[in-house]
Amino acid sequence: MTQLTRTQVVIVGAGPAGLFLAHLLHRQGIESVVLDTRTREEIEQTIRAGVLEDWTADLMRELGLGARMDREAHFHTGITLQHGQTRCHLDLMELTGGKRVTVYPQHEVLRDLIAGLEAAGGQMLFGVRDVDLREVTAARPRVTFRRREDGPLETLEGDFVAGCDGSQGGSRQFIEGRTEYQKVYPFGWLGILVEAPPSHHELIYARHERGFALLSTRSSTVQRLYIQCGAGEHVSAYPDERIWQELRARLAAPDWQLTEGRIFQKGIVGLRSFVTDRMQQGPLFIAGDAAHIVPPTGAKGLNLAVADAVYLFRGLEQFYRDGHRERLERYSETCLRRVWRAERFSWSMTTMLHVDPTENAFEQRIHVADLEYVTHSRAAATALAENYVGLPLDG
Ligand code: PHB
Repeated sequence: MTQLTRTQVVIVGAGPAGLFLAHLLHRQGIESVVLDTRTREEIEQTIRAGVLEDWTADLMRELGLGARMDREAHFHTGITLQHGQTRCHLDLMELTGGKRVTVYPQHEVLRDLIAGLEAAGGQMLFGVRDVDLREVTAARPRVTFRRREDGPLETLEGDFVAGCDGSQGGSRQFIEGRTEYQKVYPFGWLGILVEAPPSHHELIYARHERGFALLSTRSSTVQRLYIQCGAGEHVSAYPDERIWQELRARLAAPDWQLTEGRIFQKGIVGLRSFVTDRMQQGPLFIAGDAAHIVPPTGAKGLNLAVADAVYLFRGLEQFYRDGHRERLERYSETCLRRVWRAERFSWSMTTMLHVDPTENAFEQRIHVADLEYVTHSRAAATALAENYVGLPLDG
């Protein structure tokens, strides 16, 4: 006999989609249990990027989770685009009628969400094992798991299951008749954390003949920098001095100096665009990276996951309030409209700013022309800014 626990919504995955969903449901008195195979420490310590659109930052505040973000995050009213040694400042605030972005890494967001849910009495189970999702689309959807290696098998049954288990998670496999769209870019990002004060007051996205570079920030003493690297490369190919040479070359500009310091973290990620065109199957709804991936160049990943959580919450809230399923039925369609626009933007930023070794000289010149266009046309700059600060949730 396995131990059976009932809840209203079983949430598989304690990432941004799962935890925002749990908070929104909890606030409305809808019960959920969040499960994750990772430990709380792993979730809170895995270094991730994080650029929050205004509505995402506002949602943190609305949920009573904004205090640390408001103290520690960096608020940017503009970004810098660089081509060769020429820089162009894009005034996001002016171009978008008052919007800005918040640089607050995803693992910090998750720490605040977990602490907040714990304080509110929300149920989260970390480090669970032997998770079995085979019954997630059954009439009474359920997930089985063990809390510890030698613990008993437990069953968690809900009215619904939210598959928020990321790109490698298993929940997507249960969506029948789905089509998957993918583009794998032939390059990756090498990211470093550096003990050094900021070199610049805002993010710099640079296209250089040696490849892309991005200068971002974490605090007054820690900087985050990235360089384009080969898709299959390993960090061992990048001793510190090689990284600095590349950063100095790619970010060089007249009368400007990169502040350098001790590199205390290095990692490589591949770049990929991916969309699943169906995000639901019976009582199962998938959200966030489980359903779609964007390359980090557009800074959209976290916001897309939170948008899915909001749309799913609205559907569930309608169902529990008056028994109607219209919003749930339109869930995939509602999410995917926004997802495809963010995919388009992330792809266009990526192709515009990277040097793709598989493209011919004509294609590469077109990307340079794209960059020239956004840095010389107010209309093009406005379009980039509108997407960068985030399209409206109901657009
Ligand atoms: C980051 O600070 O890690 C960061 C910022 C902007 C991006 C990607 C990553 O587009």
